[in-house]
Amino acid sequence: VNKGHGVRGLAEMSLKVVPSNYVQPFEERLDATQVVSDESIPVVDVSNWDDQRVADSICDASRNYGFFQIINHGIPEEVLAEVQAAAHRFFEMPTEEKVKFKRDACGGGIAKLGTSFSPGKEKVMEWKDYLSLEYFSDETAATDWPSICKKIYDVLLKGLNLKGFDKSKELLMMSTFAINFNYYPSCPNPELTVGVGRHSDGSALTVLLQDDVGGLFVRAPDGSSWIHVPPTKGALVINIGDMVQLLSNGRYKSIEHKVVANPTKTRVSIAIFINPALQQVVAPLPELLESTGEKPLYREILFLDYFKYFFSKGHDGKATIE
Ligand code: SIN
Ligand code: FE2
Repeated sequence: VNKGHGVRGLAEMSLKVVPSNYVQPFEERLDATQVVSDESIPVVDVSNWDDQRVADSICDASRNYGFFQIINHGIPEEVLAEVQAAAHRFFEMPTEEKVKFKRDACGGGIAKLGTSFSPGKEKVMEWKDYLSLEYFSDETAATDWPSICKKIYDVLLKGLNLKGFDKSKELLMMSTFAINFNYYPSCPNPELTVGVGRHSDGSALTVLLQDDVGGLFVRAPDGSSWIHVPPTKGALVINIGDMVQLLSNGRYKSIEHKVVANPTKTRVSIAIFINPALQQVVAPLPELLESTGEKPLYREILFLDYFKYFFSKGHDGKATIE
């Protein structure tokens, strides 16, 4: 009935109840009693990257929560607003226009329009449409990268008492990347569905721009409750991905998160996944193991293999790295 129309198409039908293939099993839903209100993801003012307190806050957040928000990062709010407006314009085009961006339709181009995470593999669908732009080449793209990511990596490496970020780390931490424009239409039964099921990111680092609707939840350190990441004006949400957890031998955590749709508002988010080169072997940093004498907690992997494995399964929690 709904081929190619995605969740946006469903939302346009003004359903009173979501179709049964969107109804999550009880344990995957977010119960309001599981949400903690006395704990929050740190918001770090990065207007002065040389301030040691900035570095300490980022490293502490990356160890404890795997998530933080940054403000005063230098990207003008008008630019962020325009990216969000563009996401709305794209998903609100007629289906006939949008389907041209489905991967098979555009002959293997870089844009891929999809719905849910992996509809073929999921028992239950996610209440989300997305447009993914992938940039894969084994050449480093780091010279073109916004300085924000380099600064964060620099802080994280120094937080492990290592030399800061330089060219030698580019293929390992900042080579290929992908951008996801996520579109979560308002949902008649947000309590029964998920916008995105719980997962940790397979990336090295993720930079996320969310709008003012809210709905992103991060697993709290206690393991059983969830912390809301409140929309914060002008902020970017940063999270540690599986590859940085691996490189840091588990010091920095790639934490499970999920998204819940809103009963009345459409939410958009834009995520940039920053990844190692596909042919890069990733292992706990040798200089870290050497300086601390610890044993590697993870075996080495080829990023391409990890990446393929990550997309070969549905969102089923943080099983990929463990
Ligand atoms: C995701 O983690 O896949 C999406 C996060 C968001 O939309 O906030
Ligand atoms: Fe994610």
